[in-house]
Amino acid sequence: QQPATFGQVVGLVNKLQQICTQLGDTAGNSILVDKLSSIVVVGGQSSGKSSVLEAVVGRDFLPRGTGIVTRRPLVLNLVHTDDPKAQEYGEFMHRQGQKIYDFEKIRQEIEDETERHLSKGSKVVSPVPIYLTIYSPVVPNLTLVDMPGLTKLAIEGQPQSIVQDLEDMCKQYIKGDNAIILAVSPANADLATSDALRLAKEVDPLGERTIGVLTKIDIMDKGTDCREVLCGRSLRLRHGWVGVVNRGQADINKKMNMADARSRETEFFKSTESYRDLDNTGTTYLANKLSNHLVNEITRKLPEIQSYVDKTIIDYKSQLTALGHDISGNRGKMLHLILTLCQKVEKAFTRIVEGGEGGGER
Ligand code: GDP
Ligand code: NA
Ligand code: MG
Repeated sequence: QQPATFGQVVGLVNKLQQICTQLGDTAGNSILVDKLSSIVVVGGQSSGKSSVLEAVVGRDFLPRGTGIVTRRPLVLNLVHTDDPKAQEYGEFMHRQGQKIYDFEKIRQEIEDETERHLSKGSKVVSPVPIYLTIYSPVVPNLTLVDMPGLTKLAIEGQPQSIVQDLEDMCKQYIKGDNAIILAVSPANADLATSDALRLAKEVDPLGERTIGVLTKIDIMDKGTDCREVLCGRSLRLRHGWVGVVNRGQADINKKMNMADARSRETEFFKSTESYRDLDNTGTTYLANKLSNHLVNEITRKLPEIQSYVDKTIIDYKSQLTALGHDISGNRGKMLHLILTLCQKVEKAFTRIVEGGEGGGER
């Protein structure tokens, strides 16, 4: 029997996670989320968070722009599919079973779902996440969280509490020991004023799970560069820095595609004297770094997740027994569904752990 791939595991865990959420667990307290690593992108407003995420995914689908464009956290599960010719698609948790192949429609749905939720109250931002899974042969297996950006001042039309609200929301997602923090800072501003680094430092003082990402290197003041930062001489981070160049607003307006953006980025780092010899530049480097990091973390936690799943199975089995195994009603149906899913997840984990990919920590 072939050992399950991480893609399969991530897919199954994702399903279980979705069910936990439906049962009322939120991202903050779901045990599974706590046990699995996620990568959370934090930083100031318009520092380039959504652009970085999109670049890692390799597809255009996130709302971007100046101002607060991202107004709810977006929990993005990337699932690598093995068939290189398989068509990519996205599926929202609030629209389960509906495969969306058009990425422009995915972006539209993120915006619409944000509106639907926020228009119910008068809130400008909300901590309630949108869950989206992308299945694709060109993505690494990652769980990423896009956050609304931090601001220093509330602008007109926003309640004064927004500054604190945004910060609390971000902390909620990065405080758990398993969250890898992608701290995004624009290279054209002083690092000392970086909201991303300030917040990351608060929850991860030793920098054990923080990766620094420098954006907008292409629009730094003429005659300045960020070589010292990228080499870790300005501010040392245990997991280091990665420099990237994404599309500027003009490129977005001109609808520059992802492939052109990537080749321009490669060209930029290759042709600029200050960066030519560095290897920690570019989006591909960042994506690989993230993927490796996540796979290592999940591997380390497999036994623990497995015992959680085992416990859940026992728990739901006894609840079903109490119902006299009657699965005709709604509650019975739900229990049965969750149990079946847990058992699938359990099998996949067992295959991995016993297949030797699990690090043998049993
Ligand atoms: P977010 O608010 O942090 O999610 O930032 P966005 O990804 O929405 O980007 C904010 C603005 O900065 C957009 O107009 C982007 O086009 C622009 N931007 C992001 N990254 C870069 C970059 O590396 N270079 C340039 N020139 N512009 C960028
Ligand atoms: Na923005
Ligand atoms: Mg954004």
